[in-house]
Amino acid sequence: MIIAWVVILLTLGSVLFYLVSPWQLTPLASNWGTMDTTIQITALVTGAVFVAVNLFLAWVILRYRHRAGRRADFEPENKRLEGWLTLVTGVGIAALLAPGLWVWGDFVRAPEEAHRVEVVGQQWRWSFRLPGEDGEFGRVDPRALEADNPFGLGEDPAGLDDRLVMEPRLLLPQGQPVQLRLRSKDVLHNFQVANFRAKMDLVPGQVSHFWLTPTEPGDYQVVCAELCGIAHFAMRARIEVVAPEVFEAWRDGLPTQADWLARANPDLEAGRTHYASCAACHGASGGGNAAIQAPPLAGLTPDYLYRQLELFRHGARGTHAEDGPGQQMRPFALQLPDEAAIGDVAAYIATFEPAISPPAEAGDPRRGAGLYRTCAHCHGARGEGVAATRGPPLAGLPDWYLIRQLEHFREGIRGRHADDPYGNQMVDMAQMLVNRRAVEDVVAHITRVGTGTEE
Ligand code: CUA
Repeated sequence: MIIAWVVILLTLGSVLFYLVSPWQLTPLASNWGTMDTTIQITALVTGAVFVAVNLFLAWVILRYRHRAGRRADFEPENKRLEGWLTLVTGVGIAALLAPGLWVWGDFVRAPEEAHRVEVVGQQWRWSFRLPGEDGEFGRVDPRALEADNPFGLGEDPAGLDDRLVMEPRLLLPQGQPVQLRLRSKDVLHNFQVANFRAKMDLVPGQVSHFWLTPTEPGDYQVVCAELCGIAHFAMRARIEVVAPEVFEAWRDGLPTQADWLARANPDLEAGRTHYASCAACHGASGGGNAAIQAPPLAGLTPDYLYRQLELFRHGARGTHAEDGPGQQMRPFALQLPDEAAIGDVAAYIATFEPAISPPAEAGDPRRGAGLYRTCAHCHGARGEGVAATRGPPLAGLPDWYLIRQLEHFREGIRGRHADDPYGNQMVDMAQMLVNRRAVEDVVAHITRVGTGTEE
């Protein structure tokens, strides 16, 4: 008796919870209202079956409960009942799936006028490619993938004007249909934007695609919805839906593949000239100066230096009220006249002999080695940096600098700015260091890996 009532109450409670739950779909920001309809149909069909089956269970418990002197019947076959059940289940399943097939058909068939964006996933970041003036994507060749050819663009001249977005931030024009073409460099990922009601797998070796029309201006988060390794949770990007003019201005300012190739041939003499003003704090050969908290630059990669100089120039670094050294750095970054100069000075710095700092005195390197395992995925097992994840080298950096940066990431003094997506990722990652002691331990390890004094 009691069991039957418990089943009835659980059933009604579940329905009530579904109706009044605060966890509802996020506001819709694309044309895919039909996805919501499909979800509602699914909830309706499964909900009706859930209620019917559980109330039937309660009824059976009540109706056929034990009574003295009554015996159970054994009736293993009932053709009529099985026929009915098959029919009702079949209709239910068809009602559940058929609308989804229609919506799916629409979802993968982009309208003629849709513009196109390529989404590239890799452990653990997103990047994007837009076709240039010719409206064509250059052909890609997986064998051409290199640190300085991150999209694997082949010889195809159509690719030279392709616009490359290396930061995980994409702008889309409001009200214009866009086809997204998805490609993965390594493992399965899944591109999902909840507000667009859109998600799809990225499968290595093939290009999957869908389309949508963003309808509401705003910022939307892209998450990876496929467990793809240790930093899967940090694999995020931002999509900004803006007015078409804003989108066009942004798109036309993006570097092309040709620009990217030109960056591979920097002018080292010009870089040396620009470096003169850096040398006062960072040293003539980039060795750094602890007394004024200027970190060594020797050993850092051109890609990382370039990115950081850009962040300083755009105010995404060096503008936080509690970041004194960063504020000092910013005016110097602003002295560089243009992007070519940034590339030249970054390339010049990369010619310095890498700095080696002494091992940290504080901290327990053995505990730090355990903590560092997570960092190693992006920064390399020996802190040598990883081009594919754009994780800068850490080996050779001094303990005071590493501690300060980790503390700044932990507190959001560095890396919180909306235009610093890798910083955002690092703010998330730094939360695994729960206190000052953990920071010192991991730094004790990092300062030993590069010098061969690790335990
Ligand atoms: Cu990529 Cu999870």
